[in-house]
Order: sequence, then structure tokens, then C-alpha cells
Amino acid sequence: MKDVPNHLAIIMDGNGRWAKKRFLPRSAGHKAGVETIRKIVKECKKLGIKHLTLYAFSTENWKRPQKEVETLMTLLVTYLKKEVKELHENNVKITTIGDISKFPNVCIKELNNAYELTKNNTGINLNLALNYGSRNDIKNAIKCIIEDIRLENIDIENIDESLISNYLSTKNLPDPDLIIRTSGEQRLSNFLLWEGAYTEFYFTDVNWPEFDEKELKKAIDTYQNRERRFGGVK
Ligand code: IPE
Ligand code: IPE
Ligand code: MG
Repeated sequence: MKDVPNHLAIIMDGNGRWAKKRFLPRSAGHKAGVETIRKIVKECKKLGIKHLTLYAFSTENWKRPQKEVETLMTLLVTYLKKEVKELHENNVKITTIGDISKFPNVCIKELNNAYELTKNNTGINLNLALNYGSRNDIKNAIKCIIEDIRLENIDIENIDESLISNYLSTKNLPDPDLIIRTSGEQRLSNFLLWEGAYTEFYFTDVNWPEFDEKELKKAIDTYQNRERRFGGVK
């Protein structure tokens, strides 16, 4: 298998530990992490990856100190303000998954602006997972399916796997081919549980601020040497 992943998803982890090692505040780690996002989006585009999902804020990240949550929101706004124009010029289409209605209005405004500006772009799809949690997404899907049964838009007999996929916030995306997690943690932390049924995983000890083109190449090389069988035989 020599294809690059069509859909690459990344759990960007280790900003805090990167900062701690340098006796810096956690916010400095998040700031450095944004630089990695810039680099990696560019590289993925160059490699011909079609969809890049970045796990930026989970439904559980609200548990962090309010100051840190605020820093993350502010960095998101700064990133969008600074980058959207250039992303648009590079034909990048920006989308999100997760419930952004709980985010501050400035974030929502910048995100709406980014969707609107880039909606017809045909290059790489940069999909940001914001206030995303897979269980919450599945819960919402179940509610909507029940509602559609009640409204007689669908029958119980119509419920199959692809129908369920179509009620998730990832409905416009193919399942991820590869999920990378940085920082040495080896868990999903509520990311793409349904969609990741046959995803390949790659874990690296490198913290997100230090992840770069070389590390990405290592991940993709590893992926390209995997044999995906989907339950069948070779
Ligand atoms: C990832 O880095 C960024 C987010 C989860 C928003 P962390 O902030 O989780 O960094 P560590 O895991 O504490 O090192
Ligand atoms: C997962 O990282 C969420 C994001 C990268 C946005 P966390 O750092 O929040 O996950 P846990 O707490 O280590 O599982
Ligand atoms: Mg973490």
C-alpha cells in the first residue's frame, strides 16, 4: 500500500508537557502548538491528503482551568484572523465538527466567516474538531434518528450503518484512514469512535509543538507499510 491517507486525523497532544519541560506556562505550549498546525496543514496539502481533521478541543477540555480554556479560545480566534485569508488563497476548505455554540461569540463569528469564505474551495479540507466528543455526537445522532422516526421521515427498518454515519457530524467526511496521536499517550480520548472502526493508529512520543514534516513522514511511511484487511484475508 503506497497511497497517502485520504483522511488523516490528528490528536494534537503534549503542548502542556512541552512547556513544562522548558519551565514555561502551558499557554506557551499552546502557542507553539499553533505553529505546528501551520506547518502540518501546509505539508498535508503538499502530500495530497484530502481531509485533515485536527482535534483541537474536546467536550472534556472544559474541565481545565478557566484561564487555560480562555487561552485556547483566544488562540483559535487569532489563528483564524491571521490564517484564513492565506488558507483561502491556497484553496483550503475549512469545516468543523463539534458543538461550537458553547464557544464565545468572537470564535463563532470567525468560524462562520471561515466556512463562508472557503465553502467552494476544492483543495484540502481542514476540519477542526472543536468542543467535539464522539459520544456526544453519537447521542445527538440517536436523538435525531428518533425524531425522524416520529416525524415518519424514516422507518426503523431503514436504520443501517450508513444511515447512522449520515446522522453524525462527520457525515461529509470519509472515515479516517490514519489517526496520529502525539505525546506518548495511547488512547482515543473520545475521538472518532464510530468512524475509527478500521482506522490505522500511529503513536509517537514527540509532543505536538515538536511534531514536524519529518515526523509526519515517519507516520505516513509506517501507515503505508501496514496491511489493511478490514476483516478479510489478503
Ligand atoms: C493538547 O495539549 C492541547 C489540547 C488538548 C487543547 P495538552 O494541553 O493536552 O498538553 P498535555 O497533555 O497537558 O501535555
Ligand atoms: C485530547 O487530549 C483532546 C485534544 C487533543 C483536543 P487531552 O489531553 O485532553 O486528553 P487526555 O485527558 O490526556 O485523555
Ligand atoms: Mg493532553
